[in-house]
Amino acid sequence: MLKVYIETYGCQMNVSDSELMLGKLIAAGYESIAGPEGADVILVNTCAIRENAEQRVIGRLGELRRFMHRDTILGVTGCMAQRLGPRLLETDSRVSLVVGPDAYRSLPHLLEGAIKGERFSATDFDLEEHYEDFQAKRFDGVKAWIPVQRGCDYRCTYCIVPYTRGPERSRKLEDVVRETREVVEQGLSEIVLLGQTVNSYTDGTHDFADLLRAVGAVPGVKRLRYTSPHPNDFSDRVIAAMADTAAVCEHVHLPMQSGSSRTLKRMLRRYSREDYFNCVARMRAAIPGLTITTDIIVGFPGETDDDFEETMTAVRDIGFDDAFLFKFSMREGTPATRFPAELLVPDDVVTLRFDRLHAAMRSGARQRNMRRLGERMEVLVEKEARKGDDMLQARSRDYKTVIVPGDASMIGKYFTVELTGTTGSTFTGALVHERRALPVAS
Ligand code: SAH
Ligand code: SF4
Ligand code: F3S
Repeated sequence: MLKVYIETYGCQMNVSDSELMLGKLIAAGYESIAGPEGADVILVNTCAIRENAEQRVIGRLGELRRFMHRDTILGVTGCMAQRLGPRLLETDSRVSLVVGPDAYRSLPHLLEGAIKGERFSATDFDLEEHYEDFQAKRFDGVKAWIPVQRGCDYRCTYCIVPYTRGPERSRKLEDVVRETREVVEQGLSEIVLLGQTVNSYTDGTHDFADLLRAVGAVPGVKRLRYTSPHPNDFSDRVIAAMADTAAVCEHVHLPMQSGSSRTLKRMLRRYSREDYFNCVARMRAAIPGLTITTDIIVGFPGETDDDFEETMTAVRDIGFDDAFLFKFSMREGTPATRFPAELLVPDDVVTLRFDRLHAAMRSGARQRNMRRLGERMEVLVEKEARKGDDMLQARSRDYKTVIVPGDASMIGKYFTVELTGTTGSTFTGALVHERRALPVAS
């Protein structure tokens, strides 16, 4: 049996794709192993979102040579494979396969060729491809990532994703519901629906509101999340479906990117600062206790000090629970490459802004979290916090990380905890043993 190891970079969509690839290869007779040692096939599933994501992969491809014997096949898959295609074969003589996100169906076949010494690049888009017949080999035993949409039809001027993942297309609602039933039977109770603009989901008959209601109605689904939505695709129907569906968690990851309408316009995000604030207000009005996390890009071309201050005030006024902050990275072939050079923000300015925003974010989140000490809530135990110290990492419905004492037998189960402390970003919690009230002696 040939042994295959897949290493994954990038977003949850890539993690989900790795699960599909692994499932396909196991069905084709491969054995899955957890590290590169002794692998006959090593696949690196890559991300192209920022320059440093690609640099990491290039460095890793070099390191992986240590684990390779003469016949080990090295393949590059995912977004960087799609972006660079045959260029990767030219620059790295040990890479024999380059396979883009829509070509994973041909992996077993391509590997047969690679074993014979052939080298391939397969990067055609396939708008019908959802890998419906693949049996994903899931890495996570607690939550299931379920892709509902592939590709992206927005054209944010900084973003490489439309070029690496192709046009948007959605799976059929029935197929998503079928997969949900299967994972619940396997014992998973949290579902995370995936798509680049997941709330623009449409299978021709059903929209994202229908999908939330249908998946939330599958018996055994206790928690339902989705990532990442686009602020423009939150129709009243979708917000109502969130509010009405008990399983939908009180958290949304809502990428803002910038708090300045001028910058948002140049990003081609298709909403203004006011639109974003409105979206937040509509969701908060409908869903009590909703927490909001976001993505922000710092130093987008043309971002002035005033523009940046608008991002600072937006962060303060919205009160995000957490944020992923990114320094703008110019990606080859994106519309941003055509901005005049004088719009580029100098590195030292970007770093200053980034550090200020980071500090503001952290202190805002800390204040919000401090106010919640003493609160009781339901958590789902996800994994051991650190091996061997009898602490577990659990998560609340509103996406707070809570470290609780316990052992591995608690993983995948739900408990009530009281929040006892916070580092600012994560909490410590004590298990609350909900005893029944003792009968009162009369
Ligand atoms: N589809 C998702 C985002 C996917 S990429 C959405 O539209 O929200 C994840 C995040 O990476 C983006 O939200 C953005 O903040 C960041 N990002 C994307 N391209 C980038 C670039 N060229 N430079 C810096 N950050 C970028
Ligand atoms: Fe990229 Fe914009 Fe599409 Fe998100 S919506 S994947 S940021 S182009
Ligand atoms: Fe990266 Fe591709 Fe995801 S570029 S962020 S792995 S869609």
